Amino acid sequence: MPASPRRRILVTSALPYANGHIHLGHLVEYVQTDIFVRFQKLRGHDCIYLCADDTHGTAIMIRARAEGRSERELIAEMREAHLADFAGFQVDFDHYGSTDSPTNRRLCGEVWGALRQRGLVVSRDVQQLYDATAGTFLADRFVKGTCPRCRTADQYGDTCEQCGATYAPADLIDPVSTLSGARPEVRSAEHLFVTIEQLHGFLAEWTRSSGALDPRIANYLTGHFLGEPLRDWDVSRPAPYFGFEIPDAPGHYWYVWFDAPIGYLAATAEWCESHGQDVAAWWGRGNAGTPAEIHHVIGKDIVYFHTLFWPAMLEAAGLALPTKVRVHGFLTVNGQKMSKSRGTFVLARTWLDHLDPAALRYYYAAKLSGGIDDIDLNLDEFMTKANADLVGKVVNLASRTARWLEATGLAATYPADGGLFDQAAADGIEIAAAYEAGDFARGMRLVMLAADRANAFVDAEQPWKLAKAGPEAAGRLQDVASVALNLFRQIAVYLAPVLPTLAAQAGELVGGAIRSWEESQTPLAGLPVAPFTPLMKRIEAAQIAAVIDASKAAAVDEQPIPGETPMDANAPAATDSAEPLAAEPLAAECTIDDFTKIDLRVARIVAAEEVPEAKKLLKLTISLGGDATRTVFAGIKGFHEPAALVGRLAVVVANLAPRQMKFGLSEGMVVAASGAGAPGVYLLAPDSGALPGMRLH
Ligand code: MSP
Ligand code: ZN
Repeated sequence: MPASPRRRILVTSALPYANGHIHLGHLVEYVQTDIFVRFQKLRGHDCIYLCADDTHGTAIMIRARAEGRSERELIAEMREAHLADFAGFQVDFDHYGSTDSPTNRRLCGEVWGALRQRGLVVSRDVQQLYDATAGTFLADRFVKGTCPRCRTADQYGDTCEQCGATYAPADLIDPVSTLSGARPEVRSAEHLFVTIEQLHGFLAEWTRSSGALDPRIANYLTGHFLGEPLRDWDVSRPAPYFGFEIPDAPGHYWYVWFDAPIGYLAATAEWCESHGQDVAAWWGRGNAGTPAEIHHVIGKDIVYFHTLFWPAMLEAAGLALPTKVRVHGFLTVNGQKMSKSRGTFVLARTWLDHLDPAALRYYYAAKLSGGIDDIDLNLDEFMTKANADLVGKVVNLASRTARWLEATGLAATYPADGGLFDQAAADGIEIAAAYEAGDFARGMRLVMLAADRANAFVDAEQPWKLAKAGPEAAGRLQDVASVALNLFRQIAVYLAPVLPTLAAQAGELVGGAIRSWEESQTPLAGLPVAPFTPLMKRIEAAQIAAVIDASKAAAVDEQPIPGETPMDANAPAATDSAEPLAAEPLAAECTIDDFTKIDLRVARIVAAEEVPEAKKLLKLTISLGGDATRTVFAGIKGFHEPAALVGRLAVVVANLAPRQMKFGLSEGMVVAASGAGAPGVYLLAPDSGALPGMRLH
């Protein structure tokens, strides 16, 4: 029996790109969606979880070329890998499609037809960079050059990582194609646009009052997009492009972000076909019967695709709009962005080779509270928490009581337990509300509190002593163990969305498979209890170290794909050489007072020029903020292009006595590293956020 009227809920995760493997960051999304879906199913609702590979676009085309094979071969192989990774993490889709499917092609045609019919498609020429050597137009990330604003070299075609400027690739100074190294030329090509400004009123209204969006997301959209006319959305790309050719515009292809969300529709249509249902029952408007809910789970990087373009397409096509767009934050590992060199860019496969996926599912659940904040996987905390909660609290409850019931089974009637079962049963309402809201963290806290109470009961009753006390204590022993095992099974019901294997094992131990949330409401009695088999193992530090090592090794072996954003381009290989330190031993000890005499400050380099007469020197003008500027001669010529230094932050000794040099007065010193092991002089740069004038302590 459903706990509330039976709902019909269609849930999606964003479609993962077919040009890379699933990693722990992706899993934040797929695991949380899977938990939500399993919860809804356990509650007795009609819930389907749909997803697909996102297969089209320039990146796939380039990768296939680099690997010397066809795109379709590449995406077929990646699909198998994705499916294996998801299965390993118990992410259980009702259907997993592909945006390269015939169904998707047909549905793209239908949505396109609706857009055309409503007069929402216009054509216009676009100036784009073209790589004549590679024979292709270049997407922004396949062009690098010098930032037109701050003149930092080696920046991508759309934004400068140094100063944050955004621009068109054609504005870059000295642009280079990362595909061929050729200098791209500007070519004009026809593109097709959707004039979503015509749907501005609808989008503003939907954003404000549909209830689909968290208020923070709604405010972001209102502040950044809806306050001014919406720019036309460029939805076509000229050949060559890996995607679907637009039927009424030969030589033009739908841009990957046009056909990708339609993949949600295609996956639904395919699922419906194999389940004898009508896709209109999910995506149609104004149907008779219970209207379906549509929930999209996405990361914060793809919000406007799902909250502006996608609703606009659905509106134009007369289809149902999302009930909820659930946005989550990004994963960091040990407080930092995942990093290949640190071994924290961990692929799903690598984790599965060394560690229990269930422990990660639980950890993510314990961290996710339904907001858009980033979540941190702290590996020490992960180990401690998984061991303490899952092994120490949950499994322990069964492992120290089940065996006393192997011969006798559960007590014939559920014994008095001081209200423990009823209390946890009553908690079910709050735990369910937490799951529904995506606040899994709160749900997990409530469940662990129930586990604490149950363990306190066992500690107080000491069944191991009762077992030694002989036949007259046998009745009490059976009662105590029956209470503990019932409390264990009750917890397993609550954890079933997160830990399906644990739930299945609990069912095998006593009472049969857990199929409904309602099973948390009534204790079991008089049933046989199976022999206890170990449920979850403690995690050892060595397993985590193995994951990190394997991830480092994988990063070193990996072939770089042209145009792919490196995770950390300056990353060294796994182990650092002892050479620099050995070649230059540490200086004599100093006191903190000695150190504080030297005033080190963050400074911005605002100008840099060659000193023609000096072999090693560059003349830098540095700013300590406000009007405080200095001239410094730095011995870094030959290792740094003057133009590339302008705008960046460095560290200077700010209270060094000025020194008259042949070329002028030097009013400080820029700090840089050099030594044995590698040629070069390496400037120090603070983490982003530091401001000129800040002192180093
Ligand atoms: N293909 C698009 C989505 C198209 S949906 C019509 C895409 N793919 S992706 O593979 O880059 O990302 C898939 C999902 O995983 C996105 O929702 C993205 O936000 C999420 N994540 C990818 N890396 C992530 C982290 N490091 N942390 C958390 N989620 C992350 O975007
Ligand atoms: Zn810049």
